[in-house]
Amino acid sequence: MKTERIKGKVSARESVVVCRKDVFRAELAPRRDRLSGGGGILFTDSNVYALYRKKIEMNLAGVPVFVMPAGEEHKNEQTLFSLLRTMAEHGLRRNSTLVALGGGVVGDIGGLAASLYMRGIACIQVPTTLLAQVDSSVGGKTAVDFCGVKNLVGAFYPPEFVFADPSFLKTLPPREIRCGLGEIIKHAALNAELFDLLSQNREKLFDLNFLGEIVPKNIAIKADVVRRDPTEKGLRRCLNLGHTTGHAAELSGADLSHGECVLVGLLYESRIARKYSDVDGEYLSALEELIRFVLAGADWKGIDVGHAARLALLDKKNTKQGEITLTVPVKKGEYAMLELPFAAYERALSEIGESL
Ligand SMILES: NC(=O)c1ccc[n+]([C@@H]2O[C@H](COP(=O)([O-])OP(=O)(O)OC[C@H]3O[C@@H](n4cnc5c(N)ncnc54)[C@H](O)[C@@H]3O)[C@@H](O)[C@H]2O)c1
Repeated sequence: MKTERIKGKVSARESVVVCRKDVFRAELAPRRDRLSGGGGILFTDSNVYALYRKKIEMNLAGVPVFVMPAGEEHKNEQTLFSLLRTMAEHGLRRNSTLVALGGGVVGDIGGLAASLYMRGIACIQVPTTLLAQVDSSVGGKTAVDFCGVKNLVGAFYPPEFVFADPSFLKTLPPREIRCGLGEIIKHAALNAELFDLLSQNREKLFDLNFLGEIVPKNIAIKADVVRRDPTEKGLRRCLNLGHTTGHAAELSGADLSHGECVLVGLLYESRIARKYSDVDGEYLSALEELIRFVLAGADWKGIDVGHAARLALLDKKNTKQGEITLTVPVKKGEYAMLELPFAAYERALSEIGESL
């Protein structure tokens, strides 16, 4: 893969995204001296540390490391404040840097800690999951879950650098690849060129070389949206495609990952679009085929749609009481915003669920 640099205002502040292999040797090792002696900290989780400990020790000797237990259940204020305490104990200064090496959980907590420590120190994101590479590391959203609500406490705090290295994907379990593909197919629903590329290379979707090629394209699509709407005032809502129903399915207790739920949400919402929008039916059939291909092997048909519909009523994306706000795919590269009365949405989910 050739090194790709996606430079510019990826959010309210300048960020540079570099997609390249061998990020430890090429990007982190040269920063080792600056990160030692109070100049920085490496933050990661227990799974990533177990897999990459040798590389960390070889390339970042002398840099303090804080390892959180892996898992969304630890994306909370305890982990955040343990990290902040460790940063203070190591004497980090205003010009220090936090390096977040991990998936979206590490990236979200690390970014938030960087935004809080001395009112903001530099942050470098090194995303190690497909989802984190194509989505969460870009755009500057940071958060922890709080009082049982996902991402309740957070900030917009863009990293100085994102180093996306496809080599990390080699150690990812297939399910985590499918999870990242959820966001990739969402991007394809916003971008005709990516949609054609994925449709023409369906059999390569789980191939790591192919994924390495499409990670920079996905980052560029997300970065372009974020650049034009850094704090989600309008356009950035297009990134919610499939997410209202997907998020509701996730909360309803479906045994599916976030990305799998996004795919299911996209499928339901493309069917809803057929009923309530001016759509290109042939395109939506091709999109559904792509989604079904990626979901093959996941148990995605048993969602409790009644429960999911009621949960969608609580979604923070809704703008009117009693109505469900959806961003739905309609034509190649085009989406539409829909506001459906709850009863119509509930009925639609139930009809679609029966027809799958
Ligand atoms: N900030 C944003 O804009 C944004 C966008 C989407 C999602 N998110 C957040 O991201 C989180 C989900 O991210 P995720 O799916 O990366 O989850 P995650 O960080 O929990 O990672 C998934 C699992 O993969 C393991 N892992 C990470 N890298 C690995 C590697 N290279 N090899 C093997 N295992 C590895 C992790 O330890 C974990 O067990 C959620 O908390 C979500 O809210 C944030």
